[in-house]
Amino acid sequence: MTRTGTTRRGCTTAKCAAGLLAGFALLATTAAVRAAPESDDPRLLITLPDEVRQTFLEHMRTHMTTLDQVLQLVGSGCVKEAGVLARKEMAIGQGLGIGRHMPAEFREMGFAFHRAADDFARVTQTVADPPDAAGWKSLMTGIAAITTQCAGCHGAYRVR
Ligand code: HEC
Repeated sequence: MTRTGTTRRGCTTAKCAAGLLAGFALLATTAAVRAAPESDDPRLLITLPDEVRQTFLEHMRTHMTTLDQVLQLVGSGCVKEAGVLARKEMAIGQGLGIGRHMPAEFREMGFAFHRAADDFARVTQTVADPPDAAGWKSLMTGIAAITTQCAGCHGAYRVR
């Protein structure tokens, strides 16, 4: 699990850690249920070699964890740390070589996702500390711009 590694105002101590742990406890209680029959599935299918698909899905799961951690940090008032984490884990491609297996439209959505994370990271650097009402609004808008990319791509593609 990634830590932000700074000590500003206790942002890596108990306050933030408690939030992150709560997120993991929740994850542990979530169970998967059924999927829709493939024939009813409108998403475009991308076929990947086994090991690429595994790397890809593993990478996706880190996106979920990162998103959770970013939200926990923001909720704890550790706004700048949230930005650092979003930039490190979501704004910059991880160089896993997955992109070349993907259609151009998929890659475009991936870039839009990285840009949204980068925009959010920039917002965290410009809002007042602690954020005022307008600052909180920009932060939420910035996070929502990221999750819109998650949701948009998930609605459009599946992998096998
Ligand atoms: C550019 C496209 C794209 C973006 C952006 C994207 N995903 Fe995904 N993600 C996928 C695809 C495709 C799958 C596989 C879905 C399937 O086959 O049913 C997937 C699967 C997942 C999974 C399931 C992993 C598994 O082990 O089965 C999680 C969790 C996930 N994504 C989280 C996220 C989160 C959180 C974000 C945003 C912060 C995000 N993804 C952004 C395309 C994307």
